[in-house]
Amino acid sequence: YTIDWDASAAEKGGWDSFMDKEIHEDPAAVSNTLLGRYDESGDLDLDEVHIDEDVFRQIDKIIVVACGTASYTGLVAKYAIEHWVRIPVEVELAHEFRYRDPILTPRTLVVAISQSGETMDTLMALRHAREQGSRVLAICNTQGSTIPRESDAVLYTHAGPEVAVASTKAFLAQIVAAYLLGLYLAQVKGTMYRDEIHQTIDNLKDMPAKIQKVLDSQADVINQTAQRMSKARSFLFLGRHVGYPVALEGALKLKEIAYIFTEGFAAGELKHGPIALVEPGEPVVVIVPSARGRNVLHDKVISAIEEVKARGAFTIVVAEEGDPDADRYADVVFWRPPCPTLLSPLVDVVPLQLFALDMARLKGLDVDKPRNLAKSVTVE
Ligand code: AGP
Repeated sequence: YTIDWDASAAEKGGWDSFMDKEIHEDPAAVSNTLLGRYDESGDLDLDEVHIDEDVFRQIDKIIVVACGTASYTGLVAKYAIEHWVRIPVEVELAHEFRYRDPILTPRTLVVAISQSGETMDTLMALRHAREQGSRVLAICNTQGSTIPRESDAVLYTHAGPEVAVASTKAFLAQIVAAYLLGLYLAQVKGTMYRDEIHQTIDNLKDMPAKIQKVLDSQADVINQTAQRMSKARSFLFLGRHVGYPVALEGALKLKEIAYIFTEGFAAGELKHGPIALVEPGEPVVVIVPSARGRNVLHDKVISAIEEVKARGAFTIVVAEEGDPDADRYADVVFWRPPCPTLLSPLVDVVPLQLFALDMARLKGLDVDKPRNLAKSVTVE
């Protein structure tokens, strides 16, 4: 007898979509991107970047240029790098950067982040930066693609090939790579104690198991929530600090594959306008920071939940295990394990990826190839 052999099904390795497969590769994307980037003592070793340590020491500003999900990596990295290295980090959409007159000097490091390495907007931005005399470092997932070839240096993410149009595992790998760059700068500039750097690397090494825990333990509640929400026509996403870019990313995922109108906001901005959108039944997704260490931002985000609930919102929150306020105020909680705040995007984004996938599936959509979109946008 014969067995039908479907090449595409074989490539998906048993998953019914590439997106599903790739979300489940989030833990490996993190661990593989860390691999070989530090020595036995725990010091960072980024010799592969081929930029002299002295040049790194001189860098006094970073500008991240990227589009879409990769630009949200830049926003996450801004919080970490400014904290660790004490130099300003600007994040700009590559197409906006290209057509203004940015202030670039030889001491500016432009970081171009791109999964595909072929995004034309990002490529044009990096060409512009190099013409103005700045150095460009690419963070890229695709070996030998155009963006790394045209950059002065490259730090590859090792997420493995990403096929689904919606970027998932590449986002986590980009955060890790951007953090490695930040820690390396802190090491050469001496802005962090060695122990602190080693501790952060150790914390990063713990993340794949925590991501795996989210995948294993939250799938059911996420799926049930998607079923409850299958008729929803719009969603608001709120976050603060590193939770803000996570909210933007959660909103982008849901809009691009489930075709639902979504908007991501900084939670503090709520009272400056967006709260007018909240009416009874409106789903609001909130990324809650850890309550540990008397984190003031935790309480502020909890009060944002109270504000929207008072106006009838249906609140779905991502919160740290054991957070009693999340339990008390939210309609649904997606739990994630405890971790340092700056690393929390690596776990917080995972339930939002799964939620978008479930919502799109429930609508019977092709999650790997959403309408009107291409995996890499090679035109300006
Ligand atoms: C992500 O889900 C999107 N499909 C899109 O925003 C993407 O991140 C953007 O086009 C940038 O692509 P790149 O990382 O390949 O440069």
